[in-house]
Amino acid sequence: MKTAITELFGIDYPILNAGMGRVAFPNMVAAVSNAGGLGVYGAGSNPPDVTRAAIREIRKLTDKPFGANAPLALPNGMANAKVMLEEGVPVINYSMGKGDWIVKAAHAYGGKVVASVSDVRLAQRAEVHGCDAVIAAGYEAAGHAGDIGSFVLIPRLAELLNIPIIAAGGVANGAGLVGALALGAAGVSMGTRFWVTQEGPMHANFKNKALELDVQDTIFSDRFDGIPCRQMKTAAAERMVNAKMLNVWEIFLNSFTIAKELKTPWFKLVKHTLSLGPRQIESMMRMSKMLQMHGLTMSTGDLDKGMTASGQSVGLVHDLPSIAELMKTLIAEAEAVQRRLAAQIPLNEAPRFQDKVASAPRT
Ligand SMILES: Cc1cc2nc3c(=O)[nH]c(=O)nc-3n(C[C@H](O)[C@H](O)[C@H](O)COP(=O)(O)O)c2cc1C
Repeated sequence: MKTAITELFGIDYPILNAGMGRVAFPNMVAAVSNAGGLGVYGAGSNPPDVTRAAIREIRKLTDKPFGANAPLALPNGMANAKVMLEEGVPVINYSMGKGDWIVKAAHAYGGKVVASVSDVRLAQRAEVHGCDAVIAAGYEAAGHAGDIGSFVLIPRLAELLNIPIIAAGGVANGAGLVGALALGAAGVSMGTRFWVTQEGPMHANFKNKALELDVQDTIFSDRFDGIPCRQMKTAAAERMVNAKMLNVWEIFLNSFTIAKELKTPWFKLVKHTLSLGPRQIESMMRMSKMLQMHGLTMSTGDLDKGMTASGQSVGLVHDLPSIAELMKTLIAEAEAVQRRLAAQIPLNEAPRFQDKVASAPRT
């Protein structure tokens, strides 16, 4: 399974886990890299010292190439990208911002840089800025995504770009991997599929819930944090989208916890938020609520109050394997699909990897 990105990153399989903040921890990263893919750490809005410690831990757990994601627009985003550069992370993946300065500094030590994009303009800008590849997230994707489906976005970018494209959104099995390659991608990045694994840090209640959900059980809205974003359809997510007003008192109290978690003085956090303007203030307030609810998906597993990002691909996830098992299955499925296509065997006559899927329970 050699593609432009297996060559670029020095990996065996063109499979990445998404650099999910507060989810893709060092054990997940190492498990993916040790299985021949590219594990990607999610720095989210971590304090920079937490990110540095995580990168050092990953290096203890694997000697394979790995990556790290920094969402530049989040608090601590730029500082985390600087830590990644200082630590010489082999592949830096940035999202939500402009990363030409990251490209320059990473290339100086032989690192690679991948921008996460959701439309043509952002993808072309990433190429102009010297990125080595893009991760293109289609409408199906968990978290922040654009409104163009992967089936259209990937082939259009393949027409326009000279750098490799990694498809994200809607991929959760070997058929998705082969499909993405057929559309012109050089690999895939999966978020939802990787958190519904033994290594995923979510509480068992949420992993089991994910196994019950179908492709329609997510919500895509800008009412989570002001930017269009896809979340698992839980009671809390529905309440947040439908709420006419934010509970300002609750958010005020939550801001103390957030300041502590970000290791930022409370008044500095508030001053920074207030300086952003009315739209951004509301966005930050919503984000603080989202972080609080995301925390519950890991701690208490409260299915009523908790909420997490999840892609439409959640409907394709039917088991809870270890990452090593998952990687083997993905490759076996992809090879079976390739054989079927090469032999032109109709799907109804081929041994179906979907057999186990067909019997999966549905709500
Ligand atoms: C729980 C979760 C957290 C995420 N956090 C981030 C993040 O911190 N930075 C980022 O660029 N993308 C993040 N994403 C989005 C992924 O990068 C990716 O676009 C998405 O997971 C692809 O869709 P899929 O989940 O269907 O595979 C997150 C996704 C999930 C599921």
